[in-house]
Parts: sequence; C-alpha cells; structure tokens
Amino acid sequence: MSGEKRIPTGIAGLDRVIEGGVRDNTTLLVVGSSGTGKSTFAMQYLNYGLEHGENALYISMEEPPEQILREAKMLGFNLDNYYEKELFFFHSKGKDFVKLVDEQLPALVEANKNYSVKTRVVIDPLTPLIWAIQDKQEQREIITKLFYTLKQLGPVLITTEEHASPGETIGEDVLIPIYMSDGAVHLTYRPIGGAFNRALEIVKMRATRHGEEVYPYIFVRGVGVVVRTTPLVSAEDMRKYDDVFDKAIRTAAELGANERMLERLVYVKENWSYPFSPKETLQIFFESQGLNDALTKEEIERRKEESTSSEDQLDINELSGGTLQVDEEEIIQEDAGNAEDDVSSESEDEGLIDIDNLNELEELIQ
Ligand SMILES: Nc1ncnc2c1ncn2[C@@H]1O[C@H](COP(=O)(O)OP(=O)(O)OP(=O)(O)O)[C@@H](O)[C@H]1O
Ligand SMILES: [Mg+2]
Repeated sequence: MSGEKRIPTGIAGLDRVIEGGVRDNTTLLVVGSSGTGKSTFAMQYLNYGLEHGENALYISMEEPPEQILREAKMLGFNLDNYYEKELFFFHSKGKDFVKLVDEQLPALVEANKNYSVKTRVVIDPLTPLIWAIQDKQEQREIITKLFYTLKQLGPVLITTEEHASPGETIGEDVLIPIYMSDGAVHLTYRPIGGAFNRALEIVKMRATRHGEEVYPYIFVRGVGVVVRTTPLVSAEDMRKYDDVFDKAIRTAAELGANERMLERLVYVKENWSYPFSPKETLQIFFESQGLNDALTKEEIERRKEESTSSEDQLDINELSGGTLQVDEEEIIQEDAGNAEDDVSSESEDEGLIDIDNLNELEELIQ
C-alpha cells in the first residue's frame, strides 16, 4: 500500500477498490465509447467535492457552461447554486488548444497559487483536443503539458471517448492519454442483457493496490453510477498467509538466498493482497530465481543419504535435471506408493516450502 492520503472520487463503489480514492495532484482518465456514462462519472466526481467544501474547475472544450449545467441536471446533479461561487468553468472557445495549454491554463494555475481551498478539476471530454491534433508526437507533448499543469491544482478527472475497432480491447486513439495518466478506468457497454451490460475495469492506478475484476455498474437516479464492487481483502485477511511466507523465507535463507532476495520476500509478504494462498506464486518465483534448482540439489543430497540406508532405491540420475518436469515424473513413480510415505516426507520437510511435495504438485498440475 502506498500509505498516501486518498481523496474519495465520490463514484459509488470505485473508491473501495482503489484504496479509498485517488492521490492528490494526479490524473484519472475515464475512457469509454459514447453513452457509457463518462459525463455521469465526471459530474459525480465534481458533485462530491462541492458537497465536501472543495472548489471545482470544469474545463470544457466545446459546450458552454449553461449547457453543461443543464445536462448535469438531466443526469440528476443540480449544480446551479455552486456556479461561479465554488464551481468555475473554463470554456475554451475556438480550437486553439496549443494556446490553451501553453498560455491560458498555466496563467490560471498561477493565479490560483495562493488559494488554499482544494480544487478538483474535470475535463469532459478531452476528445476534441485529440481529434484536432493528428501528429502523435505533438499530441503526446500537449497532453503531457496539459496534465502537468492541471495536476498542480488538485486531483484531475479527464474523460475521453474511444472508438475501438472490432478486435481491439481499447481504441488506439486513447492509448496516449492512458499512457500519460496516473490512473485509467475503462467503461464498456455490451447490450447483452443482464447485470453485465455496463462494466468497468481499472486499466491502471499508479502506486495503488487496486481491484482487478470486471465490475458491473448501474445508473441510479439521485446517485449517478453505482459500481458494483466487493471490497478488497481486508488488512486482517491479508495477514492470513503470513505463515506460508515465513516458511518460504526460511527456505530461501536455507538455500542461500542473498539479503536482497530475503528483503524482497518480506516485502511481498507485507503486500500480498489476494484472497488465495501465495504458495504457487512463491514456487514459480523461486524457480525463476534459481532457488528451485538449489532445492532440488539439496533434495538430491537428502535422497542420496536416504537411499544408502534404505532398500527403496531411487534413480538419483533421473533427478539431476532439477526441473519441475522431473518432479512430475517423480509423482507418477511415487503415486503408486502408499499414502504413509507422503505423510512422512511432509513431516521431514518441516520448515521448507514443499516444492517436491506430491499433493501440492498435483494441485498445480490440475
Ligand atoms: N437513470 C438512468 N437509467 C438508465 N440509463 C441511464 C440513466 N442515466 C443515464 N443513462 C445512460 O447513460 C447515457 C448517458 O450517460 P453519459 O452522458 O454520462 O454518457 P457519456 O459517456 O458521457 O456519453 P457521451 O459520449 O455522449 O458524452 C444515456 O444515454 C443513458 O443510456
Ligand atoms: Mg459525455
């Protein structure tokens, strides 16, 4: 977790899957095709700030303020009372976006510098600017500057219309704004009937432990959108797998992992946020770090010793590959054996992560 103070978006359900809200002085992009609810998201975001004593700045590139206020009312947000008191509009008349970004907005930010009330900013939509500037390099530069300037005021929410071609998950026209934003959510509309007609996905959220599901959302008059999320795993639940990590850290230490690696494992332990055991992830990670091989070698040594004192002759040479594949073969061999063997090997491996353990590998293969 980042530990940084969060600013609630006010978009019902979203904050619970992004650690409570956005970080100050960051940009959140809402991407979606026409009619997915981008303006509703923007209004809800503004309205929350206004209702909590913040100021709001609405940058419009096409529509005049009167029209925006009318549309807000139709979406269920009456912002008239805030108009020009706490809610300010910056209506960029004409299509000179270079002037807007290079001169007008920096001047506005400068004028606002000594003003202590928090200002949340909305651009709904950014699309006219993207369409007006065809050259990708120029587009990138102007968006970088725009975001950089506005972030100085507070948290910024930008909407962008996308036109995804068949087969594309996200339209090519919105890749630059997504890349330049600190966070991005993608809204989709599929008229398939049922609860998943409209769905939200978090594309990215820098420095944030965020939900990774596809969340349906609905329009609720008087609220705006309600994103149907389930809260992320609680801090208490996150501690549930501490013993698995402790065991893995001990194993890594025994296998000669260096300090840096052990520190990383502690970090992973403290940040594990999935509602399932990290065992498989750790096994894969160990293997990627060469620790699996080391374990296998150690296992080979152990078995060598065992085989000298046991009638049960293991083919040591067959194990020398030290790969998971070999372990699988081993399973097949051992599968014919009795269950008692499994139990005893488990107890001998106490304190180690049981990479060679039959049951676990069987689970993995399934
Ligand atoms: N109360 C509601 N019940 C059902 N659908 C609603 C409701 N409110 C809004 N919508 C749907 O949301 C759409 C408009 O939402 P919104 O204006 O926020 O979308 P948008 O993504 O900004 O669209 P545009 O690309 O036209 O700007 C409506 O066309 C309608 O389909
Ligand atoms: Mg809109």
